[in-house]
Amino acid sequence: MQFTLSGHAPHQVDTPCLVIGVFEDAPLQGAAAEIDRASEGALQALVSSGDIDDNRGQTTLLHGLPGVQAKRILVAGLGKPSKFDRVRFDQACVKAGALLREHPVTEAHICLHEVAVEDLDAAWRLRHAAVAIDRANYVYTTTKPRKDDSPHPLQSVSFQGEAELSPALDQASSIAAGYRRARELGNLPPNICNPAYLAQQARSIAEHVNGVEVEILDKRQMAELGMDALLGVAQGSENDPRLIVLKYRGAAEDVQPFVLVGKGITFDTGGISLKPAENMDQMKFDMCGAATVIGAFEACALMQLPINIITVVAAAENMPDGKAYRPGDVITSMSGKTIEVLNTDAEGRMVLCDALTYCEKFNPQATIDVATLTGACVVALGHHASGLMSLHDDLAGELVDAGQQAVDRAWRMPLWEDYQEQLKTPFADMKNVGGMPAGSITAACFLSRFAKKQRWAHLDIAGSAWKWGLTEGATGRPVGLLVQYLMNRA
Ligand code: BES
Ligand code: MN
Ligand code: ZN
Repeated sequence: MQFTLSGHAPHQVDTPCLVIGVFEDAPLQGAAAEIDRASEGALQALVSSGDIDDNRGQTTLLHGLPGVQAKRILVAGLGKPSKFDRVRFDQACVKAGALLREHPVTEAHICLHEVAVEDLDAAWRLRHAAVAIDRANYVYTTTKPRKDDSPHPLQSVSFQGEAELSPALDQASSIAAGYRRARELGNLPPNICNPAYLAQQARSIAEHVNGVEVEILDKRQMAELGMDALLGVAQGSENDPRLIVLKYRGAAEDVQPFVLVGKGITFDTGGISLKPAENMDQMKFDMCGAATVIGAFEACALMQLPINIITVVAAAENMPDGKAYRPGDVITSMSGKTIEVLNTDAEGRMVLCDALTYCEKFNPQATIDVATLTGACVVALGHHASGLMSLHDDLAGELVDAGQQAVDRAWRMPLWEDYQEQLKTPFADMKNVGGMPAGSITAACFLSRFAKKQRWAHLDIAGSAWKWGLTEGATGRPVGLLVQYLMNRA
């Protein structure tokens, strides 16, 4: 989607659709007030008569308002001003964007960010509105050809604002590209998006974006490094695993990088501990950790942030097979620690532990892994928050703050030593499952054992990465949180 800025008075903008917001039972603000003046009170009259719904989440489409150049005006109801915050602002932008996605118009002029949102500045409001409008206009088409009744997503959008806001709009277009990349990879079927495909996508980012290099390790190279935990998961699949390493250099070579690690299970059958048939198709989303660290990486590289970033993706497929790893196996990880496999469906931590060990060599400022790791996380937090676990209070705080800022929230769960006991076994240094209680935390406990030498945090996105059961598919979360975190460090 093409973004531009326009500083013309809203009523003079020649556009198929002008988008404004109105609060419930409150005076018109910003662009809405200007439109009301230009139309000599026509807008306020429609609000007063109830023809425009100012309730939260409602949208009204007007035609031919006098004194206004725009052919249509889309009015988004913002609800009560006293309850309006960044979350509701985000929802209003998504609502308006989604209406335009279905509507035949493919161009619009957005003024939604002209209302007050908490104490957030104009750059935040513009950036957030632009990313939200873009997110709402994403349509998956790769394996579904367009038909007459297909949506008509916006092609180009102008935003109310002077040239001084153009850096914020450029940032928005990078973030939007990162979200799109993540969602597209997430939504692709597992017969297309396999480990080799993820590697190919990383190669293409390295080709097209300045300052980016890529290195892809194959099965043989991983075996030389002793990554037997990752290889153990992969050995039941005909699709060979890859370790994908993307490097972006925006600062001097000796500046310590930020490292993002993604779980890239391109399909999770559970392996020999086979999952039930119902909803198994959803396990194509089990590479959303990988998709989002790739998307966030691409966004930051497109922005040319003045920091160094490394993204490591552990890509493999978890299948049952005569060669598959099995419950009872004891595997020696790259770290030298031994793992008793009690459930082959706890494969995410198996691939991530070797990826985390691999990251030690980068001497990171911080390492953040992102994974659709546990169903238990969805039980704990539902679909609204990503689970966050870290032994580093400062890093955890920075990530929670970034999530609040980007309206892509994470919620911290404890990672106390007490939980580590659940991983004890007589047969190895640890087992790969900790039983029913606190399943998300014991999964993080497992990972923590491989990140002792790093300032590390773990994001469990099992609930936030896609909309379960709905047709909407991958959300691209937590691209927003990750990019905000890295922008804050730059
Ligand atoms: N990819 C799943 C986690 C998952 C399940 C995410 C459902 C989203 C929806 C993961 O590999 C898994 O199977 N985890 C097991 C762990 C258990 C065997 C300890 C789980 O959550 O049941
Ligand atoms: Mn699994
Ligand atoms: Zn999995």
